[in-house]
Parts: sequence; structure tokens; C-alpha cells
Amino acid sequence: MTISPKSKQYIDQEEKYGAHNYHPLPVVLTRGKGCYVWDVDGKKYFDFLSAYSAVNQGHCHPKIVNALKDQAETLCLTSRAFYNDSLGPYEQYIHDYFGYDKVLPMNTGAEGVETALKLARKWGYLKKGIPENKAIIVACEGNFHGRTITIVSISTDPDARADYGPFTPGIEIIPYNNSDALSAIFQEKGDYIAGFLVEPIQGEAGVFVPDEGYLKECYELCKKHNVLFIADEVQTGIARTGKALCCDHEGIRPDIVILGKAISGGVLPVSAVLADDDIMLTIEPGQHGSTFGGFPLACKVATAALEVVKDENLAEKAEYLGNIFRQEIAGIKSPFIKEIRGKGLLNAIVIEPQNGKEAWDVCLKMAENGLLAKPTHGHIIRFAPPLIITEEELIEAIGIIANTLNSLE
Ligand SMILES: Cc1ncc(COP(=O)(O)O)c(C=O)c1O
Repeated sequence: MTISPKSKQYIDQEEKYGAHNYHPLPVVLTRGKGCYVWDVDGKKYFDFLSAYSAVNQGHCHPKIVNALKDQAETLCLTSRAFYNDSLGPYEQYIHDYFGYDKVLPMNTGAEGVETALKLARKWGYLKKGIPENKAIIVACEGNFHGRTITIVSISTDPDARADYGPFTPGIEIIPYNNSDALSAIFQEKGDYIAGFLVEPIQGEAGVFVPDEGYLKECYELCKKHNVLFIADEVQTGIARTGKALCCDHEGIRPDIVILGKAISGGVLPVSAVLADDDIMLTIEPGQHGSTFGGFPLACKVATAALEVVKDENLAEKAEYLGNIFRQEIAGIKSPFIKEIRGKGLLNAIVIEPQNGKEAWDVCLKMAENGLLAKPTHGHIIRFAPPLIITEEELIEAIGIIANTLNSLE
């Protein structure tokens, strides 16, 4: 892939002055609209990453951008030291939208997860009666919940963990997609277990879709053992998989839901933790918070972003277009394609390397051909376009994927 002098200048600048904690594709973007982004040389691409499913509503959606502009000119931040006239209406909107008694607003997905873990521990001590400092959180192998010390303590990815110890205690890891393992740990340590933290689909791990019924079985086990079922819907939520929440596919209502990314349409870092009163009210004033959490700008932007999801039927679109995507990709005869999997518009192709060409090379070639996607774990490419993409655009994009694979054989 050739890199223009203009692009190179930006890449070199990041290399020189920024921490080296990412390995981006060598594409320098300057503008986005809908399902497209443009680089600094004016080249147009389909965005099939959507900022890791944050831009479900499409880049620079006018309704969300207008909400941002209007509120930015009115009141941006008050902190929670005072009331403001944006937070209450937003909280009520979230209550009506998702059906939980209360929301605790935060900013990033990782903060949402941390909040849920603190909430689960509090509930464990105050309501379940777990002895002091003995609470356990159960999580799954291959998980991705963010980057804080406690969250990497839960991770099983060596890259995420190496040299960040000592780790947070009170964590038990079981295999994903294995409700027998959950049952076994509950039988062994159930009295001490406050919560089971799970991604309804493991996104970063490479879009691992568990067997049908798995989440429901886990949910029922949680009910039986008085353990909170905590769904990390940061990546799977907000219509990405064809329902408002991915857990809706199995008709279960988690005790705690964590949302992030697309709750703001990718316009601001906004996250939210949802729970009913018996759980949420275990946290009292002064026991948790964030300067920006629930700031007026975020409230207005997130309300607009959630309205767009409903107004434009994005869940139904994701379901419909996702089926087309998987069907069409399955029809491509390429030795690179080992497996195609996903739900709604959260999909991945597992790549079988050919002639020394791996997932990274496929992504470079796709970029050259006008479509951006990123490998995860070396051999898997995630495909997650904005949900506002049209069927025609999707078919065109699938054509780019097919041509790229054919040209690399
Ligand atoms: C399932 C899940 N949880 C949490 C996070 C962390 O979100 P953030 O990067 O906003 O902290 C991510 C990010 O990819 C995620 O996919």
C-alpha cells in the first residue's frame, strides 16, 4: 500500500509524539459522512469498523451533531455538584427506553464496567450478605471489558495483562459458552459470588457468538444462586446485533446492563450502567462518580443518538442486512475464508493465510480498494459498518471484499 507524503507526515507525527499503544492501518482520515470516511488525499472508503461499533448511526449524523451544537452553545458541564436541566430528562428517557429503574451515567466503556463491578460488590455485601472483602466476580475466558487495572485483572489476554500486576483479587475465570462451568463455580463458591460478567457476543475476541440458549441458561443459574447477571453490551448494544440489546435475542433481562460506544453515536465518550433500585440504590452520595458523567452535552447527544436508532429502525436494519452480509460472504469462493460468523451487523471472517498473506495484508488491500476493516487477534477480520448503510451500499462493499480476496490468491 503506498502512503502519500501528506499521510506520512501525520503518521510520523503520531509515531514521534504519541505513545505507541496502537498499531493503526496506515490510513489518515479527515472527514466522515454516513458509512463513508475520507483520507487526507481525498480518497473515499467504506468504514467497516465504525470505531469498534461506536458509530452505529453513521458519521456526523445531522440530528446528533445539531444536538451537540445546540447544547454546546448553552451549557456543557456543571459537574454533579449542582442539578441541571438536561440530566433528569435524559435519565427518564433511558428509563423509558430500556425499562430499568435507574441509570448511572459515566463516560467510557471501561468506566461503565468498573461501575458495574463496584455495584455488584456493594450489592453482594449489603444485600446478599457476602462476608467483608470476600466478594467474587465470575467472568469468561477471552473476554474484553476495557483497560483499567481491575479489568485487565479479569482479562486472559497476555498482551492486555503483561507487566501490569499485581492484579485485583476476587475474580474467577471460566470458559465462555459453557454453562456447566458456571454451574460448577456457583456450586463451589456461590455464597461468595456477587456477579457474573459476560459479553453476549465476544467482540474483541473475534466476534464469538455463543450457542443459542447459553445466555438464558447462565441467567437462570444466576437467579438460582442469587448472583447478578451483568451484561457488557458496550459493543453489542444499541441495535448492533439486530435488537436494542443483544440479550433481547434470548429474551433475558440482565440485572445490570453496561452501555457505551454507540449510545452517543460515536460523538462523545458516553457510557451508562442500568439497574433496578434494589441494586442501584446500594451506592449512596459520595461513594462513586465522575466529573463528566452525565454532563449536559452528553445527555443531549445520547438522547439524539438513541432517537436516531428508533426513528431509522436501525435494529431491524442490522438484522436484515446482517443476514444478507453472511449469505453473500458465504457465497464467495476464496481459500482465505475459513469461517464467517456474527449476528446482525457484527460479523467476522476468520482468515486462512495464503501465500504468506494474512489478515493484515487483506486489510491493507481492502483499504487500497476503498474499504476499511481491522484484524483482531491476527487472523480474524471484523466487519461492522454503520447501521445506516443501505442494501445497495452493502452489496457494493461486499463486492470490494470479494475482489480483494480474489486478487490476493
Ligand atoms: C465489550 C466491551 N466492553 C468494554 C469496552 C471498553 O470500552 P472503552 O474503550 O470505551 O473503555 C469495549 C471496547 O471495545 C468492549 O468492546
